[in-house]
Amino acid sequence: MRILFIASEAFPLAKVGGLADVTSSLAIALRDLGHEPCLILPKYGSIKAPIQDIQGKNVVVSFMGHYEQVALKMTRLKKRIPVYLVENDDYFGTEEIYTQGELERFLFFSLSIPSIISQLDFRPDIIHCHDWHTALTPLWLKKAKMKLPCIFTIHSLAYQGFFDQQFFLRSGLSRVWQEYIPVSAPRPSLNFMSQGILLADIVTTVSPTYASEILTPQYGEDLEQLLSYRGNELYGIVNGIDYDEYNPATDPYLERNYDSTTIEKRVDNKLALQRKSGLPQSPDIPLLGMVSRLEEQKGIDLLLQAIGPFITETKAQLVILGQGREHYHKLLAEAALKYPDRLSVFIAYDERLARLIYSGSDIFLMPSRFEPCGLGQLIAMRYGAIPVVRHTGGLADTVKDVAEGNGNGFVFQNYTVLEMLEAIKRAEESFYHRAEWQNLMRHNMKLDFSWKASARKYEELYLRARNICQTGDIIQK
Ligand code: GLC
Repeated sequence: MRILFIASEAFPLAKVGGLADVTSSLAIALRDLGHEPCLILPKYGSIKAPIQDIQGKNVVVSFMGHYEQVALKMTRLKKRIPVYLVENDDYFGTEEIYTQGELERFLFFSLSIPSIISQLDFRPDIIHCHDWHTALTPLWLKKAKMKLPCIFTIHSLAYQGFFDQQFFLRSGLSRVWQEYIPVSAPRPSLNFMSQGILLADIVTTVSPTYASEILTPQYGEDLEQLLSYRGNELYGIVNGIDYDEYNPATDPYLERNYDSTTIEKRVDNKLALQRKSGLPQSPDIPLLGMVSRLEEQKGIDLLLQAIGPFITETKAQLVILGQGREHYHKLLAEAALKYPDRLSVFIAYDERLARLIYSGSDIFLMPSRFEPCGLGQLIAMRYGAIPVVRHTGGLADTVKDVAEGNGNGFVFQNYTVLEMLEAIKRAEESFYHRAEWQNLMRHNMKLDFSWKASARKYEELYLRARNICQTGDIIQK
């Protein structure tokens, strides 16, 4: 199948979070299954990859009452997968992906898609849109009378692309909505995401547990009714990671490479990480790592509340790498100043340091409030860092508590400091039992969190979307 991904991020061209890893690594996995994937992304000012002009591929888009030109450029992922970059400096030229004016940016991006598709030499069998930024694509394809099967994947309901009545009127959305929204559907909210949920042939999200959680008010972010309405065609497929990219035996960023038969070499990464973090260097002190967007979703408020008791009740060190909310940056930096021997904080996006944390920490912490899938825990396990996670979303699908037998990490249920600390303390205790701990590391490093199984599931859904698209409309509950 020729599969066209439409997305705002793809690693390494443009990355803020896990979305970027998934679009590129899933495309690679689909290619390995013999398909022909291809991506469309806005050409942000920050994209530095070698770019090719495509002669004669200019598209004119009618946008908010005037005409805008876009030029199509091209680059490749892993030298093979074609990526079309949509160039228009007024709308896409800034370095940042999510900025002021992002509603116009992504409205314009999705509006340009039907005209772009008709210009491409690539004739897609399937359109796969990712997150709110591209969620209007099915609507514009319908308006352009292009009958192409569409899958819409929700990577996080926390971001929906909200707009107000004024934007609704100015953008022309008010006119088209009346025409394409099924009458029986719950009234869609004023955001991009609800349109993707309503109009895609199939809706997916990135783990089975999150797929059922989002049907409840606790996790549904006010879209639970709409999601239940599409419940028959809502699927959860757990993300994989690229096993070539994330391989401790070959990772060029590590201090020392290792695999499950040579885990003793891993200590060099731990010492290097402690050195870089300004923490006392010792293999015997348990070292916790976190690589995370510093957003509410990730449990940063819980973490901040837990720092005091963590310092008094454990002997462990903690290294945190990430960026996000200013407020968290400030509080984390203050805590690091207060406990310099125990806590080190890097406010940055730094791929090299991230790899050192996966390969050098003993325990990997993800206390998420909610987690559609989570990739950090998967990478951590591949690198032999044992996860401590909250039982939610993809974390619940991928980490089983060791107390249950044949587990792979330490899990807590409720979003409380007490439960989180209890899980950390159990992990710490287990760390001191060296033989047991090393067995757990080896066990986790051999688990398979590659895309192998999940890419096959997408393949099945692509076929299903084609059937739905050919045989009629959305199947309703
Ligand atoms: C978002 C989610 C995360 C998921 C990623 C890729 O960043 O928060 O849980 O793993 O998307 O799907």
